[in-house]
Amino acid sequence: MPTRRSRFASPGRGWAQVGADLIRMAESVSDTAHHGAPLPHGLPGDVLDEVDSALGPRVIPSAGVGESQALARLGDLVARHGLDLTHTRTAAHLQPPPLTVAVVADALAGATNASLDTYDSGPATLAIEQWMIAALADLAGLGAGAGGVFGPGGSYSNLLALLIARDHAASALGLDTRTDGTGALPRPVVFCSRIAHFSIHRACAALGLGESAVVGIDVDDDHRMLPAALESALAAAGDRTPVAVVATAGTTDFGTVDPLPEIAAIARRRGVWLHVDAAYGFGSLFSDRLAGLVEGIDRADSITLDLHKIGWQPAAASVLLLADSGRFAAVDRSVSYLNPTDDIEAGYGGLLGQTLQTTRRPDVLKVAATFLAYGRLGLGSMLDRCHELARHAEQRIATEPHLELIAPVTLTTVVFRYRCADLDAVNAELRRRLIRSGAALIGRTRVVTAGADRPQVCLKLTLLNPEAHEADIDALFDDIIRVALEVEAENTRALSTDADALEASHEH
Ligand SMILES: Cc1ncc(COP(=O)(O)O)c(C=O)c1O
Repeated sequence: MPTRRSRFASPGRGWAQVGADLIRMAESVSDTAHHGAPLPHGLPGDVLDEVDSALGPRVIPSAGVGESQALARLGDLVARHGLDLTHTRTAAHLQPPPLTVAVVADALAGATNASLDTYDSGPATLAIEQWMIAALADLAGLGAGAGGVFGPGGSYSNLLALLIARDHAASALGLDTRTDGTGALPRPVVFCSRIAHFSIHRACAALGLGESAVVGIDVDDDHRMLPAALESALAAAGDRTPVAVVATAGTTDFGTVDPLPEIAAIARRRGVWLHVDAAYGFGSLFSDRLAGLVEGIDRADSITLDLHKIGWQPAAASVLLLADSGRFAAVDRSVSYLNPTDDIEAGYGGLLGQTLQTTRRPDVLKVAATFLAYGRLGLGSMLDRCHELARHAEQRIATEPHLELIAPVTLTTVVFRYRCADLDAVNAELRRRLIRSGAALIGRTRVVTAGADRPQVCLKLTLLNPEAHEADIDALFDDIIRVALEVEAENTRALSTDADALEASHEH
């Protein structure tokens, strides 16, 4: 008699059925469903309409359509109307195409439904996370006392780092922010470069330090924090309490790395916590060619690293490393139903005490699968390839009279703009037009360029597809220039029509 298939899965039991369902869904969503471009053609409202018409009225259906139909319907929607990160003209964000091995391991993580808070909520995944954290701390060059934890993104890892730094600064003054809150800290202050990621400011707001606690340090012409300016800002802090110096290893727009050895020496001399936001740049350590960029990272008190950026993981796969794992005490709690002391003493502890989460999914599985499959150098060669593509883009811009390079390439981003009279309007519209056509996806940002007194719209490629070729980059630039010329011509026509109308109104 055939055994009745369970609705539930776990690794080893029902797992084969998960594989079969995946195959069925993949077959029902044939490649022909794909729009063949980075994005669907059309406006955001068109996608909303497609979803509404496929899923029906916005109420939870009282009866289901069955698993196969449900999966096929959703698979079809995301294939037809979603973003394709594997497309060679997808180049906007720090959002890489995910490696197949990581996608499969992520399904395995779902099937375990393990949690990392206690031993009994997932023994194997807990041990694998401890293994992976030790290996990443070793790669960072941190000492034997280092520790770390996976979390749901670089913004979260930065928040957790600043919370731990805040409590460290408080305890140095004999204060207890854990019980008394941030109000107990006399005028806290956090130092980071003017182009640090906005999650640092938001973390300060969330921690009750206030965004006004952030002191933005000037950067040099290469977009790297000026150590002398940091030194002066610390000296000028007076009676304020320095909570942390945040150095960025891989700025979001330029990929530039603050001078870590100099900044570490300053922070050490002044006794201030050094956090390195290496969400983007940590992956340099995978490459023998690029590892030198983050020299000095081993002197950090804490490091944020995101493997859903350079690491080719499905989001999220962020890690916060601490040089001294004892500092996690700031977030440790004893909870009777999870980690009673006698259980911990008997060896049944988990990682509840290292994070702000309680239930926490084993994102580590996809990361471990990736490193086991490819090794550090396998990922390093993917990064080298993306770096080469960025250098190619840089060279192409140099030969294009219509384009202007805004900064030399450091990692895998390329910031540039289309030269024209109405810079902001034309550059912004040309990007939207590319998105609307579906044919290419590039990024945008704002930069205070040489000689300008305010930030101006610039365009950005974030190249994270190592399977793209130089010819793909060239074709992307051909598209950009073609659309830019179109937008510029329309813009000039509109401006001259406005000027004619104005003149006519003066005549009457
Ligand atoms: C330098 C830097 N830090 C932090 C973050 C935030 O990471 P996440 O988007 O995973 O929260 C980003 C995101 O791009 C980043 O570039």
